[in-house]
Amino acid sequence: MTTRPRTISPTRVVLIVDDLTTIRSVSTPLFELRDLHVSTTGDNPTEILRGVDLVIGEGEVHALMGPNGSGKSTLATTLLGSPEYAVTSGQILFRGDDITDWGADERGKAGMFLAFQYPQEFAGVSVLNFLRQALSARKGIDLSMLELRLAIMEWMERLEMDPAFADRYLNEGFSGGEKKRNEILQMAILEPEFAILDETDSGLDVDALRLVGKGVRSVRAERPQLGVLAITHYRRLLDELQPDVIHVLINGRIVDSGGPEIAERLEAEGYEAYEARAGR
Ligand SMILES: Nc1ncnc2c1ncn2[C@@H]1O[C@H](COP(=O)(O)OP(=O)(O)OP(=O)(O)O)[C@@H](O)[C@H]1O
Ligand SMILES: [Mg+2]
Repeated sequence: MTTRPRTISPTRVVLIVDDLTTIRSVSTPLFELRDLHVSTTGDNPTEILRGVDLVIGEGEVHALMGPNGSGKSTLATTLLGSPEYAVTSGQILFRGDDITDWGADERGKAGMFLAFQYPQEFAGVSVLNFLRQALSARKGIDLSMLELRLAIMEWMERLEMDPAFADRYLNEGFSGGEKKRNEILQMAILEPEFAILDETDSGLDVDALRLVGKGVRSVRAERPQLGVLAITHYRRLLDELQPDVIHVLINGRIVDSGGPEIAERLEAEGYEAYEARAGR
């Protein structure tokens, strides 16, 4: 019996490649942390994150809760590639690529966005100018000031921001709530793939909080693939965002993950039970 070499027709190769691409995009999570350990940089490095595992799929909203000083902002800042922190072991994956060593610029360009807990003030840089430069860096789109002004007008209206904000210096003299709305405006304009919101609800009055919730929801409605990691201390934002999963971070580790029952439990019992178990 003679065996003939097996050949695959070009059409079949295309089909197989198509299948593999589909399988890869279905099975590869949008964002993943594997046993992430993070320390401060500087003379006396201190370990703050002590083995964080997290998987966030496309279109999913995850909430991260935890007591003051548990490492939430450290996690958010590290994810954006801040030189303030060093990953000492573990991995950060974005769409399956290991981005642990990528710089902040590359991460932003790839579609990661961070709304800061304490947005920085930029004297001399207007909101409009900042957005124009950020958009050019993120998407390579160079809009004229007029084009951008028109593009952001709709979002400013939705977020009930006075159009005059477009010409004010970024965050300078902004109230706490105005800064947070401005972070959501940036998110809407930059169209990220994955957004980390660090206490975007803190300092907001009830109406503003509802607006931020509405803002995030409408960004998601336009971009259903968007993955969100929302750091918060408050139930109210959870009610607005309806996260798929809630995680509890204590002393640099995720100690619990689950559904809305976690928020209810925290409201009733606080973090004490978790902290006792985590040996704090
Ligand atoms: N650059 C740094 N140098 C030294 N210690 C740091 C540094 N950054 C963070 N820490 C410490 O790490 C711990 C975690 O801080 P982090 O800001 O991540 O907490 P958090 O969970 O965001 O708290 P909060 O709910 O108050 O915002 C804190 O004890 C903080 O003092
Ligand atoms: Mg914080």
